[in-house]
Amino acid sequence: MKGGMSVEGATAGWSRRRWLLHAAWMLPTAGAAHVAGVEPRWLAVRTHRMSASPMFRIAHFTDIHYRGDPGRLADMVGAVNRLKPDLAVFTGDLVEEARFFDPALEVLSGVGCPMYGIPGNHDHWARADFGLARRVFGATGGGWLQDESALALGGRVRVHGLDRRMGGGAMAPVAGAFNLTLMHYPAWADRVSHRSDLMLAGHSHGGQVRLPFYGALVRPHDVGRYELGWYETQGGPLYVNPGIGCLGFDVRFNCRPEVSIFEVG
Ligand SMILES: [Fe+2]
Repeated sequence: MKGGMSVEGATAGWSRRRWLLHAAWMLPTAGAAHVAGVEPRWLAVRTHRMSASPMFRIAHFTDIHYRGDPGRLADMVGAVNRLKPDLAVFTGDLVEEARFFDPALEVLSGVGCPMYGIPGNHDHWARADFGLARRVFGATGGGWLQDESALALGGRVRVHGLDRRMGGGAMAPVAGAFNLTLMHYPAWADRVSHRSDLMLAGHSHGGQVRLPFYGALVRPHDVGRYELGWYETQGGPLYVNPGIGCLGFDVRFNCRPEVSIFEVG
């Protein structure tokens, strides 16, 4: 019996060591699978109520970085449509290569409400066909805005899209309307010519990998201190969305892709 107990004890000890070895192997593997396989596809919907009795809902998404995976983008379009927004807005970086611009727009054209958009730095660098974007966004009842403004929802919302200029006369607020400004670069919030009721931006991707109690490991240029979420700025309230796609490696940690809903009016 003593030998058996000894053997049993030895087996239990071996089992603990084996469990620890397994854990040492499995935890990083599970972590890597989450960072590379789960979180980049784990869409979050965040709703922000900006009025006690909102009159309309605006869906915001950004930084799609489409690389020929229509299912993933179609999932986002389906999620947007299920939220039944009155208006959808996109703040740039649809693609990194021009050959993906047309197919990405084809999927995006499934958004079932007026959709406004602006280009991001990667769309410019790819030399994407903005004339095509103008047609596709226009066909939804919205528009592709490059330093231009449009009145949406019967004049209740003025949408201004920043591209090369940080404002100017076209950005001037419209009295009686909810003045919404779309920008790719969050840091432009400190340089715009006029205040808005809401400014929406992307570009930062929230860093994609965010350490608890620290934040983004990497911030691109023209993000400044506005890496993710809400900020009060010189140009008005700013919300920075972490984006849908990924830049570089297809990884995210503590920074899920997001569709944001703003209840305003
Ligand atoms: Fe981006």
